[in-house]
Amino acid sequence: MLDISEIKTIEHDVLIVGAGGAGLSAAIEASSRGVSTGIVMKSMLGKAHTVMAEGGMAAALGNVDARDHWKIHFRDTMRGGKFLNVWRMAELHATIAPERVKLLEEWGAVFDRTKKGLINQRNFGGHRYPRLAHVGDRTGLEMIRTLQDHGIHQGIETYMECTALDLLTDENGAACGIVCMWRETGNFVIFRAKSIVFATGGGGRAWEVTSNSWEYTGDGYGMAYEAGADLMDLEFNQFHPTGMVWPLSVRGILVTESVRGEGGILLNNEGTRFMFNYVPDRFRAETADTKEEAARWLAGDPDARRPPELLTRDVVARAINEEVKAGRGSPHGGAFLNIATQRSAEDIKRKLPSMYHQFKVLAELDITKEPMEVGPTCHYFMGGIKVDADTTMSSVPGLFACGECAAGMHGANRLGGNSLSDLLVFGYLSGKNAAVYAQNMSSYAEVDPDQVTNIIRNTTSILNRESGANPYNLHAELESNMQANVGIIRTKSELESGIAQIEALKKEYETVKAKGASQFNPGWHEALALRNLLITSEAVARAALLREESRGAHTRADFPGEQKEWLQYNIVINKGNNGKMALKKVERFNPDPELVRIAESSIEDLEKEIVDERKGDV
Ligand code: FUM
Repeated sequence: MLDISEIKTIEHDVLIVGAGGAGLSAAIEASSRGVSTGIVMKSMLGKAHTVMAEGGMAAALGNVDARDHWKIHFRDTMRGGKFLNVWRMAELHATIAPERVKLLEEWGAVFDRTKKGLINQRNFGGHRYPRLAHVGDRTGLEMIRTLQDHGIHQGIETYMECTALDLLTDENGAACGIVCMWRETGNFVIFRAKSIVFATGGGGRAWEVTSNSWEYTGDGYGMAYEAGADLMDLEFNQFHPTGMVWPLSVRGILVTESVRGEGGILLNNEGTRFMFNYVPDRFRAETADTKEEAARWLAGDPDARRPPELLTRDVVARAINEEVKAGRGSPHGGAFLNIATQRSAEDIKRKLPSMYHQFKVLAELDITKEPMEVGPTCHYFMGGIKVDADTTMSSVPGLFACGECAAGMHGANRLGGNSLSDLLVFGYLSGKNAAVYAQNMSSYAEVDPDQVTNIIRNTTSILNRESGANPYNLHAELESNMQANVGIIRTKSELESGIAQIEALKKEYETVKAKGASQFNPGWHEALALRNLLITSEAVARAALLREESRGAHTRADFPGEQKEWLQYNIVINKGNNGKMALKKVERFNPDPELVRIAESSIEDLEKEIVDERKGDV
């Protein structure tokens, strides 16, 4: 009989799970409001996946091109997301991002500078103006360094190498705590909290080729789903066009879009700059037709149109995929990305130091002299936990979510650089609203011992059963299934086969067995993460099967093109009463007409409106 009174219990008004940019932003905001704030992380402080974010954070500061404005950022974001974004979230993001970036600077982030000493901004795909505030190609690292420094000095309590297992809920179904396990000892700990914020990132580790770190196992999706929360838009998985393809040991590692933002070009094995052949009609007016015009853009001509390498990620990833399929790929199944012919060695080393180092060390290749080989890599989840736009609270009262684990902000496709600013904006909003929620509660809810016992039994049975499936093998099978059947280009028959294999893996998972003891046992941790990966993968595959259109990052070869009817729906997923996954097409809210007007305006009209507004004419 498990005696839960022997398990250590820790109390915080607000408990945050995940110490990336979103979690730290939420923690800083909550603790600044005087509530006791704890942050639990399965890795160590400073190691979150945010450090892998390279190119920058998008905010309409207008430091490099004064024409930029939140309305243009908002318009770019909605168009990038193929209008499936939650309108209000895209508005909040575009309006709040500049002040949060400036605050980060005040807290000590050492951004690259313009000649005038302002925060420098670079070009990225889908952004009309240079908009990404950056620190070389190490922006995420600088963000985490700054936030953790600020947060620790403000008094946030941190709990490292502590894996969140499942949520506890009170008799009304509200979140009231979480059971965690110390990775080092295998001991359990109960956190009681008045509100909980998930900032747990995405689930890209379900695919074979991914830019995601080991932590990205869909933990937030899995735990929220098990607690009864709604998930949304899981069919939209972004494949970043440029991951390393060689050597195999590092396949999938991110090659930042900044390489293209700084002028890098994509070539096939015939030496053709193929992106000129893949410009969608709707982007034709904004994209250069010729190499000469693209070169003028690189030289800083403000009237030149953007090179086709800076089309949105969905377009570039599909183009590389097509070239490889047509036999025009690079030797290891990708495309060539060349910055060496476009910029001086000095510029490359100054603006892209990590890329220079990464290829030197991992591929023995000097990017100032030779082209890189790159190909699509699973990078980001646009979908996630369904939240209220203003408060970021999920459908489980007291459970908030922000950053990649939350749905809505990016619609069907995220623009590069909108992720880091999303972390700052929605981390802040989550921290604020979770603190307000906690302040309105007079006491902690009672913890239900049966829930704790269940969570612990589910966890220890993986160690205690005599024999069973090997968690590493199950994970490898899941990865190859998702890669083959739920990849960039999808079809009904592949998705059905993918779902059938996920169902078989779920069955095997019932008897998963980790060998060894509870002290730092990687096999046990792998098995625990696998539950969340399986929930995540099933949600992705089932939603991808249901959405019979191609929109943004979700491409159905059997349903080409966007279907107007589907623009009216999000796919919402939760755990049905029978314990099975339930999917619904949920009609979207009518957006604020003013936001629709801004997003649908022609760029000329919008720019004129902004000029007039600035003159005080309107
Ligand atoms: O390419 C990159 O540096 C990635 C940035 C992002 O996903 O926002």
